[in-house]
Amino acid sequence: MKENSLQFWLRRLGLSLIGLLLVISLNSYLTSPSNAQGVLKVGTEPAFPPFEMQAPGGKGLTGFDIDLFQAIGEEAGLEIQFQSMPFDGLIPALQSQTIDAAISGMTITAERAQTVDFARPYFQSGLAIAVRTEDKGEINGFDDLENKRIAVAIGTTGAQEAQKISGVEIFTFDNSALALQELSNGKVDAVVNDAPVTLYAIKVGNLNNVEVVGELLTEEYYGIALPKNSPNLEKVNNALDELLKTGRYRQIYQKWFAGEPAKLPLVAPALEGETAAFSLTRMLPTLLWGALVTVMLTAFSVFFGTIGGTLLATASISDFKPLGWLSRIYIDFFRGTPLLVQIFMIYFGLPSLLQQIGLDFSFNRFAAAVTALSLNSAAYLAEIIRGGIQSIDQGQWEAAQSMGMGWVQTMRYVIFPQAFRRMLPPLGNEFITMIKDTSLVAIIGFEELFRQGQLMVATTYRAFEIYAAVALIYLFLTFIASRVFSWLENRLNPVRRANKKASAKVTSSSEQLAS
Ligand code: ARG
Repeated sequence: MKENSLQFWLRRLGLSLIGLLLVISLNSYLTSPSNAQGVLKVGTEPAFPPFEMQAPGGKGLTGFDIDLFQAIGEEAGLEIQFQSMPFDGLIPALQSQTIDAAISGMTITAERAQTVDFARPYFQSGLAIAVRTEDKGEINGFDDLENKRIAVAIGTTGAQEAQKISGVEIFTFDNSALALQELSNGKVDAVVNDAPVTLYAIKVGNLNNVEVVGELLTEEYYGIALPKNSPNLEKVNNALDELLKTGRYRQIYQKWFAGEPAKLPLVAPALEGETAAFSLTRMLPTLLWGALVTVMLTAFSVFFGTIGGTLLATASISDFKPLGWLSRIYIDFFRGTPLLVQIFMIYFGLPSLLQQIGLDFSFNRFAAAVTALSLNSAAYLAEIIRGGIQSIDQGQWEAAQSMGMGWVQTMRYVIFPQAFRRMLPPLGNEFITMIKDTSLVAIIGFEELFRQGQLMVATTYRAFEIYAAVALIYLFLTFIASRVFSWLENRLNPVRRANKKASAKVTSSSEQLAS
């Protein structure tokens, strides 16, 4: 016996050790910046033409930045592997050393230079205002932007600049292509974005109703970013020097832009400024505000979802067959397609469809988010409700009916109360899922809890602290929800209720006896 349990523990220990080793080796394989010697993993956000974009035919990346870094690689004897990621994920990825460098039309700023190192400036740029041609008379420069609706790309200098204008309503998108699309669709009044990118989009893209107005708002320099104290910094700088000297830089420049490249300083002027320190407590109120928005989003969606779900469930158990089929189709569609796709279809697809048939329709974000979440959860709730009702024994219907009860009465007094108790656990699950799924609407720029976190990371680059705080707030919300549901379950438990009544009777009769 003793021997056996010793063996058992030894075996467990051995297995755990093997598991640990596996995790460690997998981890070092996944996180080491360069798995092979001489390979440089370079992060980029490829929706920023002409600096970085998908090559025609979807084969790899192309653009000024891509050509430039390839040339740097050749010069420095390094093999370059590009890795696409969101723009606001680049600096966190550099911090965690998942990538070795980033080239992404990234402006050298003093805030960024606190967390990453920049190589010498490689491009002179600036922010421009874009408006729809029809509004050109009205918005001519920075001062005309007050109280306007402005679209920007997340984590960019354009987003920071837009925040300085008083009274503006800012709409944040994952990249500048989406922001410009929003302008062209007429949902915002202006876009603040890097001038060369906006100009290129107008010229090459489908944006014939958009124009750049006024003067450049800023003078900025793009730099290649590397993790702090990276051994590659010097190699990249030397290679850039070489490319500038030999005229290779000019060649690449003229492949993508007209005219002569600007003279580049050795250090970006922005690095001469001072910056504020990071403090999580200062950010907490914004996160809590985001949490409140999340709660409201959940409440509205569950409310409408329940109405929809009840109707669907009733339809699916009704004797009228076509109703049943329709609700089946609905449920299969909304359960069988990703919520994210549904959100996109509703927010971007529906208005454009309606516009095509001549209706001037555009969604407010909150309405779009609630619509998408309610439509989706109605499908799940319908199944929970139907399942609950159908789980009640047929005999109960018969008994109620033999007592002369009609359908509604039977449902109300006999079936539903019992079914509801059985529905509670899956309803609780659905509610908790809903709280978490609201984070998906961040993608349409709706500022709920997760989006607020993202926006903060985009300006402070403290990914770990901020996302951990966001996660804790979600955990708190789901914890409360699960407590409320177990409390409900307990309360509605007839056995417990009967016991309570019985004990109440006993005490009251013993009180009577005593008096
Ligand atoms: N220059 C701007 C910045 O650094 C925007 C860069 C966006 N780049 C991109 N690949 N999406 O903030």
